[in-house]
Amino acid sequence: TVGPDVIDVRGLTSEGLFTYDPGFVATASCESGITYIDGAAGVLLHRGYPIDQLAENSNYVELCYLLLFGELPSKAQYDDFAATVRNHTMVHEQIVNFYKGFRRDAHPMAILCGVVGGLAAFYHDNLDITKEEERRVSAIRLVAKMPTLAAMCHKYNIGQPFNYPRNDLNYSENFLYMMFGNPCETYEVNPVFAKAMDRVFMLHADHEQNASTSTVRMAGSTGANPFACISAGIAALWGPAHGGANEAVLAMLDEIGDDSEENIQRYIDKAKDKDDPFRLMGFGHRVYRNFDPRAKVMKETCDEVLGELGLADDPQLKIAKRLEQIALEDEYFIERKLYPNVDFYSGIILKAIGIPTNMFTVIFAMARTIGWISHWNEMISGSFRISRPRQLYTGHTQRDYPAK
Ligand code: ACO
Repeated sequence: TVGPDVIDVRGLTSEGLFTYDPGFVATASCESGITYIDGAAGVLLHRGYPIDQLAENSNYVELCYLLLFGELPSKAQYDDFAATVRNHTMVHEQIVNFYKGFRRDAHPMAILCGVVGGLAAFYHDNLDITKEEERRVSAIRLVAKMPTLAAMCHKYNIGQPFNYPRNDLNYSENFLYMMFGNPCETYEVNPVFAKAMDRVFMLHADHEQNASTSTVRMAGSTGANPFACISAGIAALWGPAHGGANEAVLAMLDEIGDDSEENIQRYIDKAKDKDDPFRLMGFGHRVYRNFDPRAKVMKETCDEVLGELGLADDPQLKIAKRLEQIALEDEYFIERKLYPNVDFYSGIILKAIGIPTNMFTVIFAMARTIGWISHWNEMISGSFRISRPRQLYTGHTQRDYPAK
């Protein structure tokens, strides 16, 4: 045994040695050259480039190229890639019928799981995963269609007609247009919102072997098609311990209600109380034992957006900042190295843009699609085996069925 609950090596009689590592805290499941994290130092690199430099100088579409193909594109490569993504933004008209099968009040994540898995039924012309070109087409289709499918979830929820993508707009502008444009008025995309949206997409694009990416790889290891694998990733992302956290952060800030020291301290004490299931949402991370580098950029973006909107005094922002300040000075959080993660501030930005809370995780899924598909492609391009973990059996030993 190495450490209290880190890794436990046990001999199993006839089958040799197995490692028992619940939650995979000390087990690498694969080799990968896409993303590097140093959790102790708070470092995140995509193909070697630090996330803060990418957030400052690049954009989401360029990051997609980098993650998928391994290098930054030349100007000509970028233009060609961006044009190809734009060419694939439409979805088959029959897909509209999928949406119509759901209740109007269905959670958009439930709709997205179903619809993305169903894409394989429409794009089966390129599902030979042994062919690099077919994998590339599927990856581009997914990246291009996710904003369209995501915005359709929202439009369906609110009973408005779907907006067709507008290919004169860039990736984030187009998403905002499909979300908020309607046939009754001209929709002008706010450039501050579009820039913030692009940042949110970039900061969520990839994060090595998190629960949803590992799920995509595991599904992919069976040879399943990429649309089915991404649908599995969306399902894994849905939980509040993963992609559902930004939605949970806003619910928590609402519940806290005011930024008085006494009130916030009450919630900090609740989070520390082991008999209380309450946790500070948006705090803590399996890998980062230091500030999440994405959270720093997210906090700056949050200040920018709310500053530009004249909402610097937003009550939820004030509670969030005070909560962060008090938690970072508290022994419990210091000892356990619990810092704000990427989702602590992302919900406040999305809310300021006008995105409804139930769409927060959908936006995370859209942004993470490039990470998922890049990992899937990396795995399929190399040699891989079906993922098949073992277990530590705790049930009965063999016994005879009782005689009747
Ligand atoms: N509030 C209070 N205490 C916490 C929190 C928190 N948010 N997070 C961890 N702790 C405590 C645990 O109770 C535990 O304490 P103990 O050692 O006294 O038992 C210790 O810190 C270690 O926590 P674990 O749960 O073992 O850490 P793990 O790596 O398994 O979980 C997780 C990480 C799921 C992110 C956790 O910190 C959490 O639930 N955070 C809140 C939800 C959240 O923000 N999720 C988003 C993650 S980022 C993402 O997916 C993009």
